[in-house]
Amino acid sequence: MTGAAGSGGGVVAAGATGSAGAEPIGAPAVPAPVAARQDEVVVLDYGGQYSQLIARRVRECGVFSELLPHHVGIEEIRRRAPKGLILSGGPASVYADGAPALDPELLELGIPVLGICYGMQAMVHRLGGRVESAAVGEFGRSQLTVREHGTLLADLPAEQSCWMSHRDTVYAPPPGSVALASSTESPVAAFEDVERGIYGIQFHPEVVHTPYGTQILTRFLEDVCGCDMAWNAASVAEEQIRRIREQVGDGKVVCGLSGGVDSSVAALLVHRAIGDQLTCVFVDHGLMRKGEGEQVISAFRDHFKVPLVAVDAEERFLARLAGVTEPEAKRKAIGAEFIRVFEEEAARLGDADYLVQGTLYSDVIESGGGTGAATIKSHHNVGGLPDDLEFELVEPLRSLFKDEVRKVGIELGLPERLVWRQPFPGPGLGIRIVGGEVTKERLEILRDADFVLQEEIRSAGLYRELWQSFCVLPGDLRTVGVQGDERTYGYVVVVRAVTSDDAMTADWARLPYDLLERVASRMINEIRQVNRVVLDITSKPPGTIEWE
Ligand code: XMP
Repeated sequence: MTGAAGSGGGVVAAGATGSAGAEPIGAPAVPAPVAARQDEVVVLDYGGQYSQLIARRVRECGVFSELLPHHVGIEEIRRRAPKGLILSGGPASVYADGAPALDPELLELGIPVLGICYGMQAMVHRLGGRVESAAVGEFGRSQLTVREHGTLLADLPAEQSCWMSHRDTVYAPPPGSVALASSTESPVAAFEDVERGIYGIQFHPEVVHTPYGTQILTRFLEDVCGCDMAWNAASVAEEQIRRIREQVGDGKVVCGLSGGVDSSVAALLVHRAIGDQLTCVFVDHGLMRKGEGEQVISAFRDHFKVPLVAVDAEERFLARLAGVTEPEAKRKAIGAEFIRVFEEEAARLGDADYLVQGTLYSDVIESGGGTGAATIKSHHNVGGLPDDLEFELVEPLRSLFKDEVRKVGIELGLPERLVWRQPFPGPGLGIRIVGGEVTKERLEILRDADFVLQEEIRSAGLYRELWQSFCVLPGDLRTVGVQGDERTYGYVVVVRAVTSDDAMTADWARLPYDLLERVASRMINEIRQVNRVVLDITSKPPGTIEWE
């Protein structure tokens, strides 16, 4: 959760953890482990709610980590040669039919293994300890009492809180191992067997409600696994640049730049790797926010000197949208036109063999667990290209979470405005003029209103706390107003601002009243056609973030 409090009132956040990003297209190249030259710890996913978070925390500690399905196969793990293994939690009981089994070979790889929650129970069960269903489950905050510090809990206070989520409980650790801690309902909440290299904790070190969680993970990674804790955004950039050179050789590469952080960072990495073998194509469909097209062009062409074809296709898109009022028809029209323009430009560039795609690690996980063997969802959005384009994909962000992409962007010198840009839908303002046709006049009104909103939100210091903030223009709707003693009949602007972690769920942002007042009065004063401003206070669900 991103519980956020801004200056001057702040905003309240809601939503689940995770991340969203542009979905990839086409068949992915099977990724070799990115960590070829850096220490890696593999997290095996037994279905836990927080599994992805474990990999993120390990990375935050400075060790590269990927989440793989628990059934990935011992050969794949050997191939990666990790320095350690973490077995995640999961919803099953070790006694349930069909509970994910622990492959005993995992414990014989000669590397340390840390079991968390279900991962711990599965190890204990397999190694002859005692796991039983407790009369009382332990869900939420619990009190941990450290009895022996051992290696794993070194330097921890004797008492601390931790986060638990389990019904089965460990009553006796495997023979030969040492019970380290207990909790309110768990006689054995942590154990270790240093000689065999097995470690277990019943609680979740990856969640913020376990205040010493990161310290425990660090003990495991540094002292137990002996990892070099040097992984960071800079090392990612170097590694990816090397890999792009290997993949592309002296081939020609094309990249569709949208102005979003993913395609921007992907393009910059590829440009660092192969210079002018890369050409970026930026299709300005006339549905962008104010000044956005210029920002992209000035950053890439003028500042980074990346070969860039900027296509001003506003007229084409407007012509295509004339008379279209139904939301899905708008999306389809914009999508189809986008592909046509991109294909024309790519054809003009001649013999490009490779296409850069800003696929993120969360897309990879969502679509099958990161083994590289999964079918990737096809992209239905504008900015996505059909999978029959004959390009080999270059996907330099495939192993990164969104926050890491931003760090790489900063590392590469991408302007802050682009690094922190809020998500923006591919069809742009085209899906924010609702209940009516998209026309040039309406786009201009919406762009001006949006500009006022963004300016006020930025100057209140709230921009980064919001998942998205934007305006909607109900196209055919006019309402009566009175301005300068005259009756007006003008447009209504809807202000929408939401907090979210992944766009799956969202809450309406509690923007400060004085900010809202400034926004409304500026919009009405500065935009002649607008005489009313309203605020959308719907969360998702039941609403969606966009109106169409
Ligand atoms: P909803 O409106 O479904 O949106 O809550 C969730 C997230 O997806 C974005 N969105 C789109 N992005 N093409 C896109 O590229 C689209 O057609 C589209 N529709 C919604 C939306 O802005 C939010 O971040």
